[in-house]
Order: sequence, then C-alpha cells, then structure tokens
Amino acid sequence: MIPDAFALPPGQIYLLGHSLGPAPKAALDAVTRAAAVEWAQGLAASWNDAGWFAAPGRLGDKVARLLGAPAAAAIVADSVTVNVFKLACAALALAPGRRTILLEAETFPTDGYVIEALARLRGDEGLRVERRPHTELFEDIGSDVALIVTAQVDFRTGAAFDLAACTAAAARAGARVLWDLSHSLGALAIDATAIELAVGCGYKYLNGGPGAPGWAFVAPHLAEALETPLPGWFGHAAPFAFEPAYRPAAGAQRFAAGTPPILSFAALEAALDVALRVAPRDAEAHVRALQAAFLDALGDALPCVTPAACGAHLAFTHPEALALKTALIGAGVVGDFRPPDTIRFGFSPLFLTERDVIDAARIVRETLAQDDWRGAAHAGVVT
Ligand SMILES: Cc1ncc(COP(=O)(O)O)c(C=O)c1O
Repeated sequence: MIPDAFALPPGQIYLLGHSLGPAPKAALDAVTRAAAVEWAQGLAASWNDAGWFAAPGRLGDKVARLLGAPAAAAIVADSVTVNVFKLACAALALAPGRRTILLEAETFPTDGYVIEALARLRGDEGLRVERRPHTELFEDIGSDVALIVTAQVDFRTGAAFDLAACTAAAARAGARVLWDLSHSLGALAIDATAIELAVGCGYKYLNGGPGAPGWAFVAPHLAEALETPLPGWFGHAAPFAFEPAYRPAAGAQRFAAGTPPILSFAALEAALDVALRVAPRDAEAHVRALQAAFLDALGDALPCVTPAACGAHLAFTHPEALALKTALIGAGVVGDFRPPDTIRFGFSPLFLTERDVIDAARIVRETLAQDDWRGAAHAGVVT
C-alpha cells in the first residue's frame, strides 16, 4: 500500500492501528504549518484565509467521500461519545410512538453509557434500553423498537455485522440503526446508501492522531428532519449573523456544535487526504490479505476467536494474555490486551505489508516457544 506516507518508528511491527493509527508524514507537516504559520502568523485572519471556519464541513465532505456518500452528508465534530448522543436524540424524535432502544450486551462501553444516560434523562417519556447478545441484536425486533445502537465491528472479538442486511432488517420492523463505525471507516469499504445514521472516530484507521475529532453521518433523505439536542453556533445556518434563535444549517453541518479544535483538524485533514489515495475496496482487500497471511504464518500457535465476518483486527485468547502482549511489545510486535484474556492484532491497510505480518507471526510463535515471557509485567492504565 503506502507505508512511505507514514512516519513509523524503526524496529516495530505496529499491529495497533485499531487503537491509534500511526502518524502520516503529511499530518505532521500540517500540524506544524497550522501552528507556526496559520496561528502564529495569520492569527484570527486564518479563520477565513486558512479555511479554519469551513473546516468541519470540509473535513466532513472528505469523510463522506470515504463513505461513498455525497458531500454535506457528514460532519467532523466532537467525539464518538458526543456524536452518539446527538444522533440518538435526533433519531428518537423521528419515532415518537416507540420507546425501546436496543444495545448489545457487550457494546463498546461509551455507547452504552451514553444511551442509558439518554434514557434516564428522558425517563418521563418511558424510554427503555434493552441489551441483547451480539447474535440476537437484529432478531425479532419488536414494534416498540425505535433505535438500535451498535458498532459494526465488535471491539473485542472483531465480529462484524452486515451493514446493509442489518439496516434493512431494522427498517422492516420500523426501526432505525445508529452505527458506530469507529472500527470500520479507513479499513472496510462502506456502502453509505445502505445506512442512515453513523458515527466514528478519527484516530484509528483514519490515522488522524491522538484524540482526533470524531465524525457523524446522516443520510441526505433524513438530514432535514433531524434536530440536534446540542444546537451550537457552528451548527447554525449563519453563525456570524449572531441571531438569538437557532436555525439549523443544512445537512449534517447542523450536528456541529462549538468551535473546532483547529490543530487536531489539521492533522486529521491531512490524514484523510492520505486515506483518500486508496480506494476503500482496495484497502479492505489488503486487510483481508494481511489477515490471511498472518493466520497462515501463525498456524495453531494461538487460538483466534474472530469469526470470518469481521473487521480489520483479529482477537486471540491466552490465559496470560496481558503478560504475552507485554513480552511481544518487547520483541517488536505491538498489539493490545482486552480483559480478561484477549490479545488484539490490527491489520491496518495503509502502512502494513504482508512481509510485516508474516514476520510478526513468526515472532509470536518464537516468543510462545520460550518460557521467559511469562513474567513480563505491564505498566500503566492503558493496556
Ligand atoms: C466502537 C468504539 N466506539 C467509541 C470509541 C471511543 O469513543 P470516543 O472517541 O468518544 O472516545 C471507541 C474507542 O476505542 C470504540 O472502539
């Protein structure tokens, strides 16, 4: 693919792009330019001259292109956590007679926390949250279900839902789906015509940097009917008219809230331009080739628990997974640990080669064949 586009540290095989993508060289330059030129020299004039003011919509258009959606269908703003809240509130208002929100039992915690808080906030409307196992989320969707909120790709196992089939199943039952595509965009080809509402992050497969802003997508046929619960001035139709009453901007722009963090936007925009150099279907094909090469080279050294329909990371179990992942980092293979016993390896399409992942599998095998890794002690909260 395009590993030369990234500033990768030597001596590491980085299988952790599903957590924090590496730095595109262009993003490092863009941050320097945004700080040293646009901010330091341009000062407030840069809101116009450097395109700062238009950044949420401009980056949103780039996200929309990656999704295969028309311009103005996406916005870059806030975080996944905040965008889940905004889009879920907006979607619920479209289904006033329905009171149930479905969640996966093991959903990524932030999505669950937000949805349960939303139900509590609107308790007087009788909203209720029902948690179901992954395999039953789209089965027997009752006539009271307004919304299903789920990640496409399970953050632990890597299991992936079929976006089109699940969205259609929900629609047949009169429900909508809010997809969390944090583990999808940048690694998998998305058919935006098959989905209505989605959010995602900028720091995993989009490689937009630590804490990169999130994004939100709303299908064009729905956008004008949606109201944000956080109507900020950046989502107003005319922010610099300073009108006392809120009027929503057109399209997804209404889901922007406050002033965008420009330095983070600079990094993410450059990273999106890098991602746009590769067609999403080619990126996904490379993910599959990397996964197949890794599994083939790994053999039966570690049990893989990820099903065939999956995202770009694979999950492996080991009773001493934390010590093993710590020892592997020492040996130059970087993955991560999720309790109680899972090691995740991510197969980011843009910077990894088949040679990298075959070497990584060999190092995993060699490490497991020795005994001295067992004492490896992890330091820090982030695993
Ligand atoms: C599926 C999913 N949703 C959300 C998040 C994080 O949300 P935020 O960007 O608001 O921290 C993650 C982080 O790993 C995630 O895996």
